[in-house]
This record gives sequence, structure tokens and C-alpha cells, in this order.
Amino acid sequence: MNISIIGSGYVGLVSGACFAELGNKVICVDNDSKKIASLKKGIMPIYEPGLKDLVKTNIKMKRLKFTTSTKEAVAASKVIFISVNTPTLGNGEVDLTDVENVARHIAVNMTGYRLIVEKSTVPVETGEKIKHAISTYVKRKVKFDIASNPEFLREGQAINDFMHPDRVVIGVESKQAKDILVSLYQPLHATLVVTDIKSAELIKHASNSFLATKISFINAIANICDIVGADVVEVTKGMGLDKRIGRAFLDAGIGYGGSCFPKDVDAFIHIAEKIGYNFELLKAVRGINRQQINLFLNKIKDTLWVIKDKTIGILGLSFKPNTDDIRNAPAIEIIKSLLAEDAKLRVFDPQAMKKTKAALSLGNCRRPISAALKFCRDAYDTSKGCDCLLIITEWDEFKELDFGKIKKLLKRPIIIDGRNIYEPLKMQKLGFTYIGTGTKGALKQDE
Ligand code: UDX
Ligand code: UDX
Repeated sequence: MNISIIGSGYVGLVSGACFAELGNKVICVDNDSKKIASLKKGIMPIYEPGLKDLVKTNIKMKRLKFTTSTKEAVAASKVIFISVNTPTLGNGEVDLTDVENVARHIAVNMTGYRLIVEKSTVPVETGEKIKHAISTYVKRKVKFDIASNPEFLREGQAINDFMHPDRVVIGVESKQAKDILVSLYQPLHATLVVTDIKSAELIKHASNSFLATKISFINAIANICDIVGADVVEVTKGMGLDKRIGRAFLDAGIGYGGSCFPKDVDAFIHIAEKIGYNFELLKAVRGINRQQINLFLNKIKDTLWVIKDKTIGILGLSFKPNTDDIRNAPAIEIIKSLLAEDAKLRVFDPQAMKKTKAALSLGNCRRPISAALKFCRDAYDTSKGCDCLLIITEWDEFKELDFGKIKKLLKRPIIIDGRNIYEPLKMQKLGFTYIGTGTKGALKQDE
């Protein structure tokens, strides 16, 4: 099939490369000419395992190409996916400026039947709005369909998620649209959920909000564990074995970040409010998530007392492992808070150093940022002379460190773990003061 993807970000680029790998002819469009120029040379704008090879192979096989021209893409493609950003405004409302803009560009360039598919996460009823925009701006009398096909891929394992999805959701209102999308996804042999457009749109917001709810729920339990001296890891094990609950997305920590959960929870609260429903449950989910970072910062203060002039090591900057994405990454907020209290920071991340440097270049700390914040070579370099070491992102390489060496390098052997990646008792036996998230009980057992 000839298809186009408008918006070559995390979702668009991965989807485009995967559709090409499945044998389609794909044009990926982006209005960022620098990004397109790099992609043409095989240089990825993001770190995503396996993506570079997939893109390069499919460029070589002439199944994948890149352009800034929506006109060229629309002329060549029967199916056009929209995967541009859908950020939220301050009040949680989704800013659909880019989606509307793309819809108009598609409309004026359509030369025959086209299927326009929303892949970006959009509020329910956006499909109707896209349909209206296209009907308004279309130049010739051509037929078209709208569909919703939300993407559920996770950063860091995006290609695997795309190729082996739990389900593919297809929201359509015509047989032609259904047949096209069913045949496009046929090679994946996935479970298909074919439904109406509004339900498909809701499935995405409902799924992301439900996963965020699981995370906030377990974080609330972790906070209770910290107070009563129980172990959240044990509680999670006991809960997760119940098939009705499931173990996934019950890892307690410093809360969810990234480009989706915070934005989508905000958006869903706002969407509900607009139609007259007060989504109190989600407001609590958001509240607990915001609280997690403060509780973590309190643990640092409880341990070090005065932050000023203390040297603190930070392992992990990306919002999750296996990505360089720092959008809504807890590390950034933690760094800003600690710098504001005049801490000296030593930080390291296997992939996100460049993006963090760029994001923090305008930090408003009292001393020059270069003096207060040192970007280190690895976990060992980070630990040198630190009053404590923070674990913010659970990269595999932080799980298996030479703790004897780390202990010698630290000024004080204190580890505050926001992701519970270590065995509390083991760390205690190695001589560390180990502070996890909801794992106080695990330490007490040994007393
Ligand atoms: C996606 C979805 O689009 C979003 O709705 C979902 O909630 C999360 O995933 P993502 O792929 O992460 O967003 O966004 P981003 O990496 O910012 O990519 C969007 C791309 O669209 C950018 O490369 C941007 O340059 C491009 N763009 C934006 C266009 O090509 N045209 C526009 O008009 C606007
Ligand atoms: C999410 C959805 O999972 C995906 O389906 C959707 O398409 C985009 O949004 P992503 O943001 O890439 O994917 O990462 P995900 O693995 O879902 O993690 C999101 C956040 O939740 C991360 O900050 C992660 O650290 C946190 N998390 C996840 C927890 O705190 N505990 C968990 O148990 C799982």
C-alpha cells in the first residue's frame, strides 16, 4: 500500500519505518526541514533501540522516504496517518492547532479518494472535526474517509510494541476504510478491535489513564508502606499474582513522566469537564503523581538535612530507560529543585545527556550552572565525593554495579532509590544506608 505519515516524531517515525518493513511504500513527512535532512542521511533525531537500522534498511529497499512536502505525500498515498504533536495548554485542553493545520493541507492536496487516519492521541470527537475541516477545504469533489487508529507503542521498546501489539484498534465509519486498515495490519496477525471512531478515540485516553491510575495507586500504597514499615515490592507481588489485577504497571517509584501519561491524564480530565463530568478519580491520580517527586525530595532532605553545598549524584535523566526522551522526566524537576537549594550535582545517563544539557541551559540557579552541575562519564565518575547517590531511572547498567567501588567513591554511603532497583537487605549488608520507595519494611526484617 502507498501510505504517508504526517509528523515524524516518536510515534510517526517508528510507525512509518514499521509499515515500510511490512512491505508498504511509506512517505514520512515533517515540517522540520533539519529533521528531514538528517533522516534522509540515516541520522535519527531520537534514540530508540533498533530504529536506525530499520530506517536505513527500508530507505535502501526504496520502501521508505522522507519529505517536508505534504503535497507530494498526499498525491502519492491512499492512506494518510496524522501523527503530529497534540500538546496540552495550561488548563489541560488539547491544542489541536497542528492537527487542524495538517487536515487543511491534506484537503487542498487531495486528488482522489483518501483515507485520513488519526494516530496522534486526540480528544473524543476530533475525528468529526477533521472530517468537517477536510470537507470545508477540499478543492475538488473527491471522496474521503476518516478513521481513528491510536498507537500504543512505548518508547524504548517501540518497534517490538508496534510489531507485536496486544491489539490494534481501528475506528471507522465505512466498509472501505475498515477493509483498507484491516488489510494494512493483516501481516501482524494481531487481535483487531474494529469499532466506531469515537470509541476508538476514547480507548486511547482510557487506556493511558488507566495505566496511570495503576501507577498512582501503587505509589499511594508505597507511601503507606513507608509510614507503617511494610515492603511495597512484597505487596505488589501478592497483588499482581491475582490475574484480575496483573503485575504490569505496578512498579512504585517517583511517578510517571514522559510525553503521554501526564498530558493524557490532564487532557482526559479536561475533556470530561467540558462534557459535564467531574473525573475526580483522575484528579486524584494526577495529585498522587505530583506528590511523588516532593516525597522523594523530602527523603533527600531528611537524610542530608541541609542541601546547600552538599554533593549529590544522580543516576538516570531520561523519563524511563532505553530512551533519550526527557519530556516530563522526574530527573529534570529534581535537578532544578536541588540546584535552587544550592546543591552541587554530578549526573549521568547512558543516552539523555545531550538533551538534558540543552534543557537545562537556561536554569535559574544562583551559581553558574556549569559550576553546580557536572555531567559525568558513568556511574562511578558520578559517585565521586557525593554525600548521597540518587537512582532516578532504572537503566539496566545501574542494576549491576561494583558496589564496593561505588562505596569507596562516595563521601557517605547513602543511596536513595526512586525506582527500587536494588535489594534493600543486600545493600544494607554491603554497608549502604539504602532508602527505597515503600521498602522500609524490607530493611527492618534484618534488625
Ligand atoms: C505522538 C502523538 O502525536 C501524540 O499525540 C501522542 O500523545 C504521543 O505521541 P510524538 O510522536 O511523541 O507524539 O511527538 P513528537 O516526537 O513531538 O513528533 C511530532 C512531529 O510532528 C515532530 O517531528 C514535528 O516536527 C512534526 N510536525 C508537527 C509536523 O510535521 N507538522 C506539524 O504541523 C506539526
Ligand atoms: C505510554 C503507554 O504505555 C503507551 O501505550 C502509549 O502509546 C504512550 O504512553 P511511554 O510513555 O513510552 O508509553 O512509557 P511507559 O512504559 O508506559 O511509562 C510511562 C511512565 O510510567 C514512565 O515514567 C515510567 O517510569 C512510569 N511507570 C511505568 C511507573 O512509574 N511504574 C510502572 O509500573 C510502569
